[in-house]
Amino acid sequence: MHILVTGGAGYIGSHTCILLIEAGYDVIVFDNFSNASKESIKRVEKIVGEEITLIEGDIRNRDDLHNVFNMYKIDAVIHFAGLKAVGESVEKPLKYYDNNIHGTIVLCEVMAEHHCKSIVFSSSATVYGDPHTTPIKENFPLSATNPYGRSKLFIEEMLRDLYISDNAWKVVLLRYFNPVGAHTSGTIGEDPYGIPNNLMPFIAQTAVGTREYLSVFGDDYDTHDGTGVRDYLHVMDLADGHVKALDKINNFNEVITINLGTGTGYSVLDMVKAFEKASGKQVPYKIAPRRAGDIAKCFADATYAKEILGWEATRSIDEMCQDSWRWQSNNPNGYKKED
Ligand code: NAD
Ligand code: UFG
Repeated sequence: MHILVTGGAGYIGSHTCILLIEAGYDVIVFDNFSNASKESIKRVEKIVGEEITLIEGDIRNRDDLHNVFNMYKIDAVIHFAGLKAVGESVEKPLKYYDNNIHGTIVLCEVMAEHHCKSIVFSSSATVYGDPHTTPIKENFPLSATNPYGRSKLFIEEMLRDLYISDNAWKVVLLRYFNPVGAHTSGTIGEDPYGIPNNLMPFIAQTAVGTREYLSVFGDDYDTHDGTGVRDYLHVMDLADGHVKALDKINNFNEVITINLGTGTGYSVLDMVKAFEKASGKQVPYKIAPRRAGDIAKCFADATYAKEILGWEATRSIDEMCQDSWRWQSNNPNGYKKED
């Protein structure tokens, strides 16, 4: 079975490619490298011991996509391609709507023209906005507080409408909580450009000495130690969720929406301690003001994923930190430079 993986050279995509290939799927990676390097796929090839078809192209470019669908009989698409920086989306909303929403429209149109109507979409826990309670279930009210979140919410709605218009579509919406960690080889991992926005890469870069200290955004939240609580999830568990979604996609006769999280929340300071234990390094930090738009607590009720996909996260916070540290310490400058 041929699977087109849009955004397959990125952080989650590259890890997912490994498990797809190990599961026997034929993978075609399609990426415009706006936030990834070709090196990630070279390293995935080393891990799996085979060449991967890699096509440089943009999901907004109809010709790029037609070429791929003409070359291969694609059976399903895993759609990771998208921009994901919340702050940038506030500054450049049209860039996000164009890339994420317009890109998905073109992708779905080309898919339909080639009679490929199965899609697994990367959504996000951000679609729950500020949840009224935790753990968060799939049927909680949805809202968005920034253009990035709104692009996810809108794409979810768009894919639901597409299914209503044509029941031949198979749509799985995966709402990720906070993916962290790396493949155990330590050769691939998260490689953000510039100063990381997310906690885990910032902690890892502080431990390795690239950053002086971590700013902890607020210690006066209503949580066990006052710092923000999130559902951190190992990227290989998340990757496994995609393979399971794909394995089952033909059994579904409605749009399926699934939380992918562990069901456990850890605070910023819990993560700092776990990372110090895993790395043997100090992670200096200072308490800073709250970050605009942040919420106190966000963690999943992940029971539906177990029920419908037979999926649950298996890797601990210690494994997340150990694997993240192996990647960061082996590649202090990420993919780009001399490691
Ligand atoms: P990433 O930036 O590492 O990967 C996205 C990939 O898509 C990159 O390789 C980028 O070059 C590519 N891309 C972007 N726009 C494209 C376009 N127009 N055409 C072709 N390729 C394009 O991000 P990631 O962390 O791997 O996230 C993957 C998906 O999961 C994204 O849609 C993201 O919004 C979603 N998501 C991520 C998180 C997270 O915390 N990492 C959480 C929830 C949801
Ligand atoms: N944090 C710090 N210091 C930092 C970075 C983060 O204290 O330098 C704190 C945040 O305040 C928050 C926690 O660490 O309490 C996690 O922050 P992240 O930025 O790592 O993650 P978020 O939960 O804010 O957001 C992430 C993605 C979003 C996605 C959301 C839900 O960035 O795109 O998870 O999936 F929508």
